[in-house]
Order: sequence, then structure tokens, then C-alpha cells
Amino acid sequence: MNLILLGPPGAGKGTLAVRLAEHLSVLHLASGDILRTEIRNGSDLGLSVQKYMDSGQLVPDDIIIQVMIHRLTQPDCADGFILDGFPRTLPQAQALNDRLAEVNAPIDMVLYLDTDQDIIISRLAGRRFCPVCQASYNIDTMPPVETGKCDHDQADLQTRPDDNPQVIRTRLEKYTQLTEPLLDYYGSASRVARLDGNKDIDQVNIQAQQVLTKTFSSIDKP
Ligand code: AP5
Repeated sequence: MNLILLGPPGAGKGTLAVRLAEHLSVLHLASGDILRTEIRNGSDLGLSVQKYMDSGQLVPDDIIIQVMIHRLTQPDCADGFILDGFPRTLPQAQALNDRLAEVNAPIDMVLYLDTDQDIIISRLAGRRFCPVCQASYNIDTMPPVETGKCDHDQADLQTRPDDNPQVIRTRLEKYTQLTEPLLDYYGSASRVARLDGNKDIDQVNIQAQQVLTKTFSSIDKP
């Protein structure tokens, strides 16, 4: 099964993707995570994309298309994947479409996390991550057991550099200008399911599983 998670920054794409990937036993591919790994490793790619990410701008299409299409050619993608954060522009969607047509593995469904802006802003303000294992938390909705410490390795939790109010505004503008039009692109070509992203994490997960089970009735069968 090949899925795309679409939705604004902070809608909960990464959080849902982790749960769905486990449920469906498919790979979770998050473009933001891939780029942040490059930055942490100090690679040339990381150095070239950091300025865009820190300011809330999108990384240029030619760079991200090359990174993600290359990633999708790896053998571990053959059994299905959940794309989170890619595609984000029409040229990216077209490049993905071309690549998947080559290997006859089309997108089965787009899950759109429809989430209100005030909820997004509050979630991003509360997001924390572990600099050691990259686990994600939220001080309001998904807190660690011990305040400020990662549950897995006790490292001090940090705030993502792009989760500040000014950069969040830019990210939301870019989403509206460049990413939201993908809803029409996929709406005409494939299956788009709207999920209520304002609900709590468990309820969003249940909505996603229900829509997938209904659409692909064999999904829960052994
Ligand atoms: P990326 O990392 O993809 O960031 P994003 O799209 O802005 O998405 P986020 O990771 O902020 O949010 P999310 O929807 O995954 O929410 P999350 O689950 O964490 O991209 C970062 C940057 O990389 C971009 O700005 C760009 O520069 C570059 N980039 C990446 N891909 C690119 C591309 N294709 N093209 C060009 N540039 C690209 O949840 C947020 C918080 O809310 C968490 O704290 C979580 O615990 C909590 N939460 C989640 N769901 C719920 C819920 N249902 N109820 C309550 N709390 C919840």
C-alpha cells in the first residue's frame, strides 16, 4: 500500500504516520526527517537546505525531488510506504507520479489531515523532540513521563528551530500557496480521504484506519 499524508505543518502527519506505519507494516518516509538527518550529519545536502528549513521556506524542487525519488528507488520501499511531507508542490507531485508509473506502483490513497489554524499554532508551540532518538512529544497533548526528558533515553527535550511564531507563519503561507493545490491534483486523479485533524491522536488514528479498512477491505485480513 502506498499512501500520502497531506496537511498543513503541525496537522499531525508525522504522529499519524508512525502509528499507521506500524499498523500496516509499511515504511514511513518523512521528507523533513530525511533533511534534518542530513543537517545533523553535516553533509553538503544538509548545508545547502538548512537556510530554507530554518526560515520556513520550501527547499527547491530540484533538490527535494532528487532526494525523495532516489529514496523511493531503495528496495525497502517495494512493499509500500507512507509519504509524509512529500510531495509539497505540483512539480513534486508530477515527478512522484512519473516515478511511480515507471514501476507500476501508484498511490493508493491520499489522507488529508484537515486541521484548524489555531490548533496548529498551539500544537507547534507545544512540540518538543529528543535530540538523541528524535522521538516527538507535545507538552500539552503528548507529554513525556518526566517533564522535559525523553522517555527512551532521558535526554533533555528541545524545540525545533522552525517552531517559532514568525517561521510558523511563513510555513503556513507556503502551505496555502504551494501545497494546498495538491488536493485538487489528487482529487481528480486518485482517492483523497479527509480526516478531521482537530481530534485527539487516537481518534485521528481510528478515522484513518477505518477509512483504509473500508476502502481496502482485505487490509486487516491475515
Ligand atoms: P516537515 O518536517 O515536513 O514539517 P511540516 O510539514 O511543517 O510538518 P511538521 O513536522 O511541522 O508537522 P506534522 O504535521 O508532522 O505534525 P506532528 O505530527 O509533528 O518540513 C520541515 C521543513 O523541511 C519545511 O519547512 C521545508 O523547509 C523542508 N521540506 C520538507 N519537505 C519538503 C518538500 N517536500 N519540499 C520542500 N521543502 C521541504 O505534530 C505536531 C505536534 O502536535 C506534535 O507535538 C504532536 O505531538 C502533536 N500532535 C499531533 N497530532 C495531534 C493530535 N491529533 N492531537 C493533539 N496533538 C497532536
